[in-house]
Amino acid sequence: MTQCPGATPQPIPPAVQEAYGPADLGSMPMFAGGFINFGYWQGIDLDGPLTEGDRISSQLAMYRHVLGALAPTEGLCALEVGCGLGAGGAMALEEYGFARVTGMDIHPQQLERARRANSGLLSRRPGRLHFAQGAAEDMPFGDGEFDRLLSVEAAQHFRDLDAFARETARVLRPGGRAAVTSFFVPDADPSRAGRLAELLDTFASGLDVAHTVPLLTGSLERAGLTGVRVTSIGASVWPGWDRWLSGTWKPDTWPRNFLRAYREGILDYFTVTVERPTG
Ligand SMILES: C[S@@+](CC[C@H](N)C(=O)[O-])C[C@H]1O[C@@H](n2cnc3c(N)ncnc32)[C@H](O)[C@@H]1O
Repeated sequence: MTQCPGATPQPIPPAVQEAYGPADLGSMPMFAGGFINFGYWQGIDLDGPLTEGDRISSQLAMYRHVLGALAPTEGLCALEVGCGLGAGGAMALEEYGFARVTGMDIHPQQLERARRANSGLLSRRPGRLHFAQGAAEDMPFGDGEFDRLLSVEAAQHFRDLDAFARETARVLRPGGRAAVTSFFVPDADPSRAGRLAELLDTFASGLDVAHTVPLLTGSLERAGLTGVRVTSIGASVWPGWDRWLSGTWKPDTWPRNFLRAYREGILDYFTVTVERPTG
């Protein structure tokens, strides 16, 4: 499965190509600070007015939540799958003592933006931060290259969770650990995908895929990863996200229907951690 130099890269699904290419989702004011995630709002006062600083803090906190689940990190090599604009990988390198952080993304335009946004850090810490093009389902790295793997709000775009899980198991060294956080359907009820497509344009358009938690955990276990732990963090994500949007987006619009889907019990935000066994 290792991608040889010059091998044909994994095709980018059209909706992903558009959202992170010409549409440049990350430039929308609902995101900020070089991040593109809904945020982890625990500890941010949702009763007072929210500032752009609060919004950036929420997205940093999402990364800190995931990186905390991967501790210890000092001196280790990390891979981020779906690194977007690279702000999370840069923060991970600066704050978590990694020897090396590699941000991988399927979209070449995202990588151009990431390299531009982090040019100072790239030259200040030569060889410590890299950005590489590759797909979650076919990672361009050797076996056992990484001690830690993280993925923040990207797995909803992956087309093949079995392939992602196999690649995660392959690129992690024995004893290595992964943490994946994103939004998933909590159960295996087959009616969920249709309802999500009614509520949320990004599911209707195929940008987001209605992956279920049982599907993800099954893929990880079949790939030989162990210690699968699933934590719902929706209570720390959706009310804050919706509160942030309420000043600029009307109820019943795309981004605000995420809270509705959460309240209907058909979508939640989860953090899933796993290990590659040593034996
Ligand atoms: C919502 S953004 C999240 C970016 C970043 N993790 C953050 O929180 O700021 C999702 C990113 O995943 C990337 N992506 C989508 N499908 C992917 C795949 N199959 N493999 C790797 N990256 C993918 C997109 O190009 C995009 O940059």
